[in-house]
Amino acid sequence: MHLIVETLFTVILVLYYLIESIVWTFLPNSWRYKDVQNQTVLITGAGSGLGRLLAFRFAKLGCATVLWDIDSKGNAKTAAEIKQRYNSECLTYTVDLSSKESIYETANKVKEDIGEINILINNAGIVTGKKFMECQDALIEKTFQVNTSAHFWTTKAFLPRMLKLNHGHIVNIASAAGLTGVTGLADYCASKFAVVGFTESLSMELTSLEKTGVKTTVVCPYYIDTGMFKGVKTKFPEILPIVTPEHAVDRMMDGILSNKSEVWIPRSLYVLLSVKGLLPTKCQALLSQFFGISNCMDEFVGRE
Ligand SMILES: NC(=O)c1ccc[n+]([C@@H]2O[C@H](COP(=O)([O-])OP(=O)(O)OC[C@H]3O[C@@H](n4cnc5c(N)ncnc54)[C@H](O)[C@@H]3O)[C@@H](O)[C@H]2O)c1
Ligand SMILES: *[C@@H]1O[C@H](CO)[C@@H](O)[C@H](O)[C@H]1NC(C)=O
Ligand SMILES: *[C@@H]1O[C@H](CO)[C@@H](O)[C@H](O)[C@H]1NC(C)=O
Ligand SMILES: *[C@@H]1O[C@H](CO)[C@@H](O)[C@H](O)[C@H]1NC(C)=O
Repeated sequence: MHLIVETLFTVILVLYYLIESIVWTFLPNSWRYKDVQNQTVLITGAGSGLGRLLAFRFAKLGCATVLWDIDSKGNAKTAAEIKQRYNSECLTYTVDLSSKESIYETANKVKEDIGEINILINNAGIVTGKKFMECQDALIEKTFQVNTSAHFWTTKAFLPRMLKLNHGHIVNIASAAGLTGVTGLADYCASKFAVVGFTESLSMELTSLEKTGVKTTVVCPYYIDTGMFKGVKTKFPEILPIVTPEHAVDRMMDGILSNKSEVWIPRSLYVLLSVKGLLPTKCQALLSQFFGISNCMDEFVGRE
């Protein structure tokens, strides 16, 4: 009897959530954006690309920004522009995200300088872009340190206070390569799958702790034209476009401000990857070749 009631209850809730999400799909998210004015946002990898653009967006919304990058010059440039354009509080820290000690030390400095962080954005990442057997061990280790482990240490440093207040947001920038394998990106894919798994688990843990005021978002973009993946080609730009950084950041901000747990860019990924999950392996391989995912890295150049 007990099980019957539980099953019924679950079925009804599943239907309710389905309808809720279908309704939200057709309404603009901007109606329910949360107010982030006066919040403190930390962004890693803020010295270029997406990190820099995200910093501008949050500064524009009235947030204090804390910028982390190993590239002090790029970071200083982001900060100078923020101060000039938005005249808002902005602190920069030179930090090597491949070093756990460096992360914890800098986190303590941040807490002394500006206090606690309300929104943490793990954005920094590096890519080798070589076939697995050609990747040097040291490069693979570095990738995992920057692309994966750094997320653990920054989260450990800033989550406790969010838990205490039951208020905050952790955003991890993963990749479409965190949802499906790609030739020539074995180490990258592994590091990004890890980020997706980490964020999903963390979100479940927060729910079971009843800390529903602390949100998580994992962002999975296909290629973005930031220079990081210079040289990559897409076969069907109508279906799988290489999006502009501006568009990617629009989607990211939309997802963050409406507390979405996942943001996939472009939206066609929702269709392509759901279909993939239903198909036999041979079809998956064939389609991956057809859509040019198997050889998209052939002309990869990357950052100089
Ligand atoms: N560009 C794309 O096509 C694409 C696609 C999917 C996911 N992503 C992800 O988006 C994120 C941002 O990408 P982007 O295109 O803006 O890259 P980017 O290369 O423009 O910026 C990365 C930033 O991280 C910093 N960084 C690198 N190593 C560091 C270290 N050890 N310590 C501190 N900072 C370090 C760099 O200095 C740089 O400022 C990355 O996580 C990337 O994996 C990008
Ligand atoms: C942000 O701070 C300003 C100045 O202290 C204050 O006037 C404003 O009401 C604050 N906004 C929010 C949403 O807390
Ligand atoms: C690390 O992350 C960046 C950005 O997400 C990605 O481009 C790069 O390929 C990743 N590196 C590895 C080794 O996973
Ligand atoms: C998003 O989460 C915050 C708490 O972090 C909450 O105050 C806000 O109402 C939520 N907004 C939406 C649209 O879910």
